[in-house]
Amino acid sequence: MNGKTFWAQLRRVPTPLALLVGLLLGLLIGRSLPSSFLAPSWAFRPVYVSARKQLTLPTIEQRHRVLELLSTLSPHHTSECTRNSQPLYVQQVRERYESLVGLRPTSQASWLSSLDFGDFGDFGSFGDSQHVHLAPTKEHKYFFAINLYNSFEIIPDLFATLFRVSAILGYHNVYVSIYENGSSDQTKALLRIFDALTKSVGLRVTIRTSTRTRGAFNHRIEYLAEVRNQAFNPLYELRDSHNEYFDTIVFMNDILPCVDDMLELIWQSRRHNAGITCAADYMYHQELNSPVFYDNWVSRDINGTALENAPFEAIFHDPHSSERFQLHLPVQVQACWNGVAVLDPAPFYTPPYVRFRMAKIGESECSASECSLICNDYWEAGYGRILMVPRVKLAYDKKVFDVIHPQRRNLSAIRGYVRLGGLPDNPRTDPQDRSWFGPHDRLFTPEESQDIEFVPGPSHVWCWGWDGAGDIDGPDVDPIWESMPNRSQRAGAVTVKHERMMDGL
Ligand SMILES: *[C@@H]1O[C@H](CO)[C@@H](O)[C@H](O)[C@H]1NC(C)=O
Ligand SMILES: *[C@@H]1O[C@H](CO)[C@@H](O)[C@H](O)[C@H]1NC(C)=O
Ligand SMILES: *[C@@H]1O[C@H](CO)[C@@H](O)[C@H](O)[C@H]1NC(C)=O
Ligand SMILES: *[C@@H]1O[C@H](CO)[C@@H](O)[C@H](O)[C@H]1NC(C)=O
Repeated sequence: MNGKTFWAQLRRVPTPLALLVGLLLGLLIGRSLPSSFLAPSWAFRPVYVSARKQLTLPTIEQRHRVLELLSTLSPHHTSECTRNSQPLYVQQVRERYESLVGLRPTSQASWLSSLDFGDFGDFGSFGDSQHVHLAPTKEHKYFFAINLYNSFEIIPDLFATLFRVSAILGYHNVYVSIYENGSSDQTKALLRIFDALTKSVGLRVTIRTSTRTRGAFNHRIEYLAEVRNQAFNPLYELRDSHNEYFDTIVFMNDILPCVDDMLELIWQSRRHNAGITCAADYMYHQELNSPVFYDNWVSRDINGTALENAPFEAIFHDPHSSERFQLHLPVQVQACWNGVAVLDPAPFYTPPYVRFRMAKIGESECSASECSLICNDYWEAGYGRILMVPRVKLAYDKKVFDVIHPQRRNLSAIRGYVRLGGLPDNPRTDPQDRSWFGPHDRLFTPEESQDIEFVPGPSHVWCWGWDGAGDIDGPDVDPIWESMPNRSQRAGAVTVKHERMMDGL
């Protein structure tokens, strides 16, 4: 069998399989390279140039053996995300995200790009040359910052999504920074494999691992803020060493996102020139026997009130926000994080140079999460356009993922449905989309693209502090209504300061 037919065959295998083949190849490459390949000093070189010289590729026969081995493995958690999406949704997605497609670099980045990682599943045509002329002329650069800790279970899915999203945004426009802090499982080993694979597709990545634990820090939040800031370090290093600036930051926790989830968050962030844009995250509640909205330690509605850990749709107290949330429409909030946050980097690059931080206890600031505090700091810096995107529902594990992303069923095939008054051939009236946890390919409504009227921030915000002095694994200070600075209550707090909207909108 010659090389050409092998690659042709590989292109036909299902996506997770292709990825795994890449993974194994990455492992083989990683092994054949000197150990300096994985050292941080590599971070800022265009790796595909330097790495090529040192590559010892596995033989075709070796690869074929790997392929055979992998074809017996089962798929990942998120492999069904975008597979079998209803045709109208696929069409909507193609049109909606076309403005995010990055130009291809003039020279092919690496040998692995011949695998066509840009040609993923239902998003196949995104990387195609037919779209290139439609792409914006000015490239938009994305910095992905990711914190991982004992994340062995989700890393393959996380990277699978990263590769696909990057293929759409343009590999050359994406930089990935991962900071892992003291995992006790095999996270570090798995990251090394992905490090090699990521570089071999021409994606720039810095993976730093640490054995530092909380011990050295007195305050719980001080440690958590430090962990997040570490993931940001390459942002400053690239600015200082190469005068390279990014246009959008994507901060991810250990979640299981689908490709279209990430694209929608980025799209909404840019569409509204939002300071911070987040998803909605869900965690299993044992007593209720259902997933509930999770991150209410950080999330605050535009009145400053905490969101509820409720199942389904009743999580907002502010009536207008609640109404929009129940229609899956973007909602302006005072603060949110929820597993993924897309940030406008301007307040990081320019005064007041925000960073993740703990509360200024000396100034009697409430001991909120480092994510709440950065939202407050964005408000004060005039970047208070903070948005929650309820369409994007995220899970931290497979169990919740399956509940919040049920498979769409073919109603026409269910006997009696039409007789009961259903309209099986109209995807816009599919009753499955009326349930809160509906199929992932819920159609977009025109309201999801419309302007949002951003209002100034609330005078007070509900804060439940966590000093972490005792052993309590959660907030340990009585909650208060904390007063907010005047600056964040002015109209100027929500005017657009940094234009990031896509061309053609
Ligand atoms: C690493 O950071 C996470 C939060 O991102 C924290 O929960 C965990 O305890 C940290 N790991 C160690 C070893 O302290
Ligand atoms: C749904 O089922 C009907 C009847 O079995 C069939 O004609 C139709 O093609 C199916 N639709 C899809 C999208 O599979
Ligand atoms: C709005 O915020 C105020 C405090 O500023 C609070 O007293 C009130 O209960 C909140 N309203 C709702 C509907 O949550
Ligand atoms: C903020 O506003 C309050 C009430 O409107 C006022 O009393 C206070 O002096 C203001 N502070 C500053 C720094 O402007």
